[in-house]
Amino acid sequence: MQTISDKEFKQLSEYIQVNYGIFLKDEKQTLLTGRLSSVLVDKNFNSFAEYFNYIVADKTGEAVITLIDKITTNHTFFMREGDHFEFFKEKVLPLLERKSKTKDLRVWSAGCSSGEEPYTLAMILDEYFGMDKKWWDTKVLATDISSKVLDIAVQGIYSNDSIAMIPPYWKLKYFEKLGNEKSVLIPRIRNDVIYRKFNLMDKSFPFRKKFHVIFCRNVMIYFDNKTKQELVKKFYDVTEPGGYLFIGHSESLNRNETEYKCILPAVYRKEL
Ligand SMILES: C[S@@+](CC[C@H](N)C(=O)[O-])C[C@H]1O[C@@H](n2cnc3c(N)ncnc32)[C@H](O)[C@@H]1O
Repeated sequence: MQTISDKEFKQLSEYIQVNYGIFLKDEKQTLLTGRLSSVLVDKNFNSFAEYFNYIVADKTGEAVITLIDKITTNHTFFMREGDHFEFFKEKVLPLLERKSKTKDLRVWSAGCSSGEEPYTLAMILDEYFGMDKKWWDTKVLATDISSKVLDIAVQGIYSNDSIAMIPPYWKLKYFEKLGNEKSVLIPRIRNDVIYRKFNLMDKSFPFRKKFHVIFCRNVMIYFDNKTKQELVKKFYDVTEPGGYLFIGHSESLNRNETEYKCILPAVYRKEL
């Protein structure tokens, strides 16, 4: 395996942090070399310095797509941190439904990985609104920076193992078998999620309307504190008054560093 010098690690890790927010501490050198060594072999690079020059010079976009796919951690699963979904269904949706004048509910799964989180939200919304859903716009926006996971997400095909924790009733209602090993989400649910590639480090967010609910769970754990604070500020600006931000259970926001009010562990609300 190609080794990386301290200078090469610094150059590459700074590039990654500035462009994608992902902060690689010094002890992540082995992780980085492990994840990228196959790329160096494939492209016949003799050093990480050569690889870095290729990344910055490449105009096709291919180099950064591969880099992002290699460096992001995409672990996710259906019903993850289930109490959030419970709260979303039991408290958030009834409140938003009552308050809504336009029957337009904007939910964003930011850092959606391979789709398990936004599809869980879409199934909850489908179940909650039932026959009335046709009167509502409840499409979930789901974004990620990694093309690889977005490709998986769009297909909506999951192995038996990955849907094992989904309630049996939901499996029958929302999935169709694809042979013995896999299932695919029904078109209605697949069409309820809009996938887009989007870098949360972009200076400004391009959304025309604010969101009632933002899920950004287990994404900011890879960012340093300053990057996280700036991102939370951007989330705040695109949250509707009275809207919610859900973050991962292992994450927290410092009360002095955000205008959101913490209402439950890892759940925040923008005051009206
Ligand atoms: C661990 S997954 C979390 C998936 C899901 N939210 C959950 O909690 O199960 C983190 C995701 O954040 C994405 N991510 C990391 N940095 C990002 C950035 N700068 N912009 C957009 N997505 C990013 C990664 O590609 C990865 O798919």
